[in-house]
Amino acid sequence: MATNGHTNGTRPKTGIKVVIVGAGFGGLGAAVECHRQGHDVVVYEQFPEIKPLGDIISFGPNAGRIFYRWSGGKVADAMRPLAIDLSTYGFNIHKYDTGEIVINQPTPEYAIDAPNFNGHRGELHEVVYNYAKDDLKIPIHLGKKVLSYDEDDKQATITFDNGEKVSGDVVIASDGVRSRARKSVLGHDDKPKSSGYAIWRSWFSNKDMIEDPETKHFCTNGDTFNGWIGPDMHFLFTTIKNGSDCSWVLTHRDEHDIDESWSFPGKLSEVKEALKDWDPLCTRIISKTPEENLVDWKLVYRDPLPTWVSPAGRILLLGDSAHPFLPTSAQGAAQAVEDGVSIAVCLRRGGKDNLPTAVRAHEKIRYERVRQIQKTGETTREMWHKTDWSKVKDSPESIQLPRPSWIMDFDTEKNAEETYDQAVKEVLAKQQ
Ligand SMILES: Cc1cc2nc3c(=O)[nH]c(=O)nc-3n(C[C@H](O)[C@H](O)[C@H](O)COP(=O)(O)OP(=O)(O)OC[C@H]3O[C@@H](n4cnc5c(N)ncnc54)[C@H](O)[C@@H]3O)c2cc1C
Ligand SMILES: *[C@@H]1O[C@H](CO)[C@@H](O)[C@H](O)[C@H]1NC(C)=O
Repeated sequence: MATNGHTNGTRPKTGIKVVIVGAGFGGLGAAVECHRQGHDVVVYEQFPEIKPLGDIISFGPNAGRIFYRWSGGKVADAMRPLAIDLSTYGFNIHKYDTGEIVINQPTPEYAIDAPNFNGHRGELHEVVYNYAKDDLKIPIHLGKKVLSYDEDDKQATITFDNGEKVSGDVVIASDGVRSRARKSVLGHDDKPKSSGYAIWRSWFSNKDMIEDPETKHFCTNGDTFNGWIGPDMHFLFTTIKNGSDCSWVLTHRDEHDIDESWSFPGKLSEVKEALKDWDPLCTRIISKTPEENLVDWKLVYRDPLPTWVSPAGRILLLGDSAHPFLPTSAQGAAQAVEDGVSIAVCLRRGGKDNLPTAVRAHEKIRYERVRQIQKTGETTREMWHKTDWSKVKDSPESIQLPRPSWIMDFDTEKNAEETYDQAVKEVLAKQQ
């Protein structure tokens, strides 16, 4: 239940104009939440059209709870058939070489008001995009590339590549992992570093899988989820939409230092080479993958930014632009959406006259939680890549995918409402 019994209606107008850059999950989530909290919102996105790009993405119940509040479950209902349903299958964790199933981790029961959505990024994104644009009539302008960000003590302004400018009371820069806004906030460019890992990833139809008697069962009994974990690598394979689509990710060591990218082509021969000593079933699954659907994504790492807020307090970095996540945390998109909830609440609580303080209060409310969740990206990877198999014999639960309650059962909206006043006190104390 949402705070103040307010589940899907929109609050009275605040008169605050919020300009949002980027229509990813971060930008769209912030747009919907700012609309719910009574602000005037406009979104600018550089892509000339919204294409269903990407492959698997995860939203834990902490994000599902947010989607559920949008028009009384309407958005969550639209997402559900697109998401993996593991209610009967659970998650099989295999030892990498023998292939034995060490444990079957059961799936938590589907909570209607805090559902879990794992599905195709493009398909889930389309639901949110259409909701913001068609249901809420939020203006979303495509083909608008922002080149620079400025602010004074009255407003923040963005400038597009054609020289046109737009101002608002606040600018939310949800411009992704390669953010340009970061420079306005930090005053310098921060450089991505190699994380020492890369991921091969793919999404494809079950056509060849069901023709092979050894892989057919992954696709003909509803959705499935299997993981093989071993030294320095893990391979996660899932089937979606009643087994009709297949998706896998293979995290492995790779020291290449390139920019974050989604469309770097991968080579099947390299994947097969990496898996040559693993359970042959892994290679069997890999060989059903059309090579054109294979992406090689180098995982770069960024040091945490000292702040997400510009000097005058009117430009805010949100989502991946503020805090990129490693995929092993499975929380990057969820945290982008949580950010939007928090900033929307803080702006309403602060009001138009206290805007920079409200923006800084948002950062205070969010910063430490995000930091702690970012770390789980490394801890989960290390837990799997350095498994002590003799210990696992005695306690197979120890290699389950962590689903800590402090992450999953968190209600961002409630938390922002409850901690806002204290956060403002701390912000003001720091300024004295
Ligand atoms: C094309 C694409 C595919 C992805 N695929 C996956 C995936 O398969 N699995 C996964 O886990 N995550 C994927 N991600 C990342 C994932 O969406 C994010 O980690 C997460 O959802 C946080 O979202 P975000 O809104 O902060 O950033 P993003 O989703 O990266 O969105 C940022 C948006 O800002 C826009 N933008 C950037 N610069 C400008 C500018 N100067 N002017 C105007 N607009 C600008 C971008 O075009 C983009 O739409 C993908 C991201 C993108 C952009
Ligand atoms: C799921 O797929 C199986 C075949 O793989 C089919 O028999 C069943 O009817 C499908 N269920 C739904 C709900 O579509």
